Amino acid sequence: MPELDLPQRQATDTLMLTGFWYRALPADRVHRNQLHKATLLEIPLVIGRDRQGQPFALRDSCPHRGMPLNSGKFDGENLECPYHGWQFDVHNGQCQLIPSLTSDQTMRVDRIYAGSYPCEEQDSFIWVYIPDPGPQGAGFTKPAQACEPAPTIEKFSEKYKLAYLQAEMPVSIDHGIIGLMDPAHGPFVHQAWWWRTRHSIHEKQKNFEPIPNGFRMSAHSPSSNSAPYKLLRLYADADSISTTIDFILPNIRTETIRAGKYWFSSLTTVTPIARTHCRIDVVAAWNLFRWVPFVPGLLKFVFGKFVEQDRRTMEMQAEGLKHNPHLMLIDDADRPAKWYFQLKAAHLESKCTGQPMKHPMSGPVTLNWRS
Ligand code: FES
Ligand SMILES: [Fe+2]
Repeated sequence: MPELDLPQRQATDTLMLTGFWYRALPADRVHRNQLHKATLLEIPLVIGRDRQGQPFALRDSCPHRGMPLNSGKFDGENLECPYHGWQFDVHNGQCQLIPSLTSDQTMRVDRIYAGSYPCEEQDSFIWVYIPDPGPQGAGFTKPAQACEPAPTIEKFSEKYKLAYLQAEMPVSIDHGIIGLMDPAHGPFVHQAWWWRTRHSIHEKQKNFEPIPNGFRMSAHSPSSNSAPYKLLRLYADADSISTTIDFILPNIRTETIRAGKYWFSSLTTVTPIARTHCRIDVVAAWNLFRWVPFVPGLLKFVFGKFVEQDRRTMEMQAEGLKHNPHLMLIDDADRPAKWYFQLKAAHLESKCTGQPMKHPMSGPVTLNWRS
């Protein structure tokens, strides 16, 4: 029997993937010589900027007796634990001073480390790399290295505008992500007179192709049932508008819209905070209407509406999920969600075996749905 004709039972495992960069905090909220708390993958972090403005991220727990470091004293270089005054270099976590040691006590202070994480500022956000859990030996672990820089938004001109918005969702990373890539909820959740009504639902055909660690909705002309795209077509005076949407593990959705010399590009992430809690961050860059003052506000309004609609929906969904219902994914509308689970499983499998990841898609696929 062809497996594809049956709705598929699907349980989410809510597993949070390590070995990736995650957005921690909006960069404009993190000021010099200040300490901020953040949580990523259930890891408590203290985040700040040194005197030069370079961001850093440490585990918010002193390796001595677990005191949260966010309430410590920070001089722009070293962070002092409020309990016994041990001091740590904020960039590598290395202990600099243990005040209780007498001059004849020869303990090697420099072998002690507060957990430190690679940290980068990129497109309005402070990103933190969460490595695979290292060998046990709390307090003596040097910082891990990230094998690649933090993700960036693709930009197609030198001058552009940038804006972000975020929303917290009381659901697991898996529900957050499949909610983000789900085409079928659009006409029901995202109704607005300036966007589309539920009566505009119609049959669509989209082409997908595998890309490393993810899949791409191949360049296509965007949905004809939305007013903003019609406007864009007029404004850009371009015959063709093309949109490319990528999903890449562990949590990234990028969307690029190009119309002649104009472009709009976004990088959305769903960040696992805890097992039942994630946060969506949308960062967009564009060169359209760059000189029109109200456009950033307008874009923020439009995106903010969408994100708020998603957030409210997931809040309601979380009520239903409390009771551990059986769930299902159907073809073709939920096929991207199936790929997500398969990609995640394939990634974990390849980590386990050390073999290259087996991509769940063997080639291009055309999907049909009504939305
Ligand atoms: S708990 Fe931090 S110095 Fe003792
Ligand atoms: Fe949505």
